Amino acid sequence: MTGDAEERVLTLGLRSIEYTVQYVCSFEIYSATDALGQVIASFSEGAWSMSTDKSAVTIYVFGKQYQVPQNLTMLTAMEHLGYRLLRGCGCRGGFCGACATVYRIRGDFRLRTGLACQTPVKDGMVFSMLPFHPATKARYDIKSLKPDINSLTRYYPEIMRCLQCNSCSRACPQDLPVIDIMAAAMRGDIANAADLSFDCIMCGLCATRCPAEIVQYNVAILTRRLYGTHVASKSKHLQKRLDEIRAGRYDGELAKLVKMSTTELTKLYNSREIEAGEA
Ligand code: SF4
Ligand code: SF4
Ligand code: FES
Repeated sequence: MTGDAEERVLTLGLRSIEYTVQYVCSFEIYSATDALGQVIASFSEGAWSMSTDKSAVTIYVFGKQYQVPQNLTMLTAMEHLGYRLLRGCGCRGGFCGACATVYRIRGDFRLRTGLACQTPVKDGMVFSMLPFHPATKARYDIKSLKPDINSLTRYYPEIMRCLQCNSCSRACPQDLPVIDIMAAAMRGDIANAADLSFDCIMCGLCATRCPAEIVQYNVAILTRRLYGTHVASKSKHLQKRLDEIRAGRYDGELAKLVKMSTTELTKLYNSREIEAGEA
């Protein structure tokens, strides 16, 4: 690429964070293509222009304007544009909570939240991923704590500042009643807080909206640990299996698996005993 073309690509912002752009250059026409070879911008007659594909929508990623196909999620749109996601991307299925994102739709005053891997792009969407949210995170020896209110307020006294405003529930991509989890925590109702927060994926979006600066998901995981350690009845079967593992009963089988090739592992996996409903 000539220095001139390089300058134009940079002017477009196509080389922003972790951006890889491929390009072709012939005479006076330059174009930028994404990893799939689709033209997303071109230079002609002295000016760059973005794709005008009618099936495309205009989005703004970290403040930069792009056009992308409309059937993408925010996460796949970023990858389509060439972003290489080193943080803020894990399961791609809405389970790991890594891809917390804030967005607005142009013309709508609301600041919305969602998981980038689950939220489809819309025309006029302006978004930024939040790959990490600074949070208070207590260290404790769970076995030494009692499953009561004192254990919660000792590490997270700020829970008593909850205004019951419901901003956390509105931000939750799992539709959890975060306000009720906090109310249960404030009452010292460990069982209820643990139960209500069971599907929390620790994305952190609730904490980004809390006016009382509570980190709800870390409070909630403390209630689940307290419940699991001190309240839930112990499973005899689980204990038996743990004892067998500790005694080395499965060491030989594990060593065999580690030595297998991918083909052997695939064959073994496909011939496994399948329980009804699993297939
Ligand atoms: S956002 Fe904060 S203050 Fe509001 S209900 Fe949730 S925990 Fe309470
Ligand atoms: S409770 Fe908070 S951290 Fe958990 S899934 Fe909902 S928004 Fe994410
Ligand atoms: S990548 Fe795991 S929830 Fe989005």
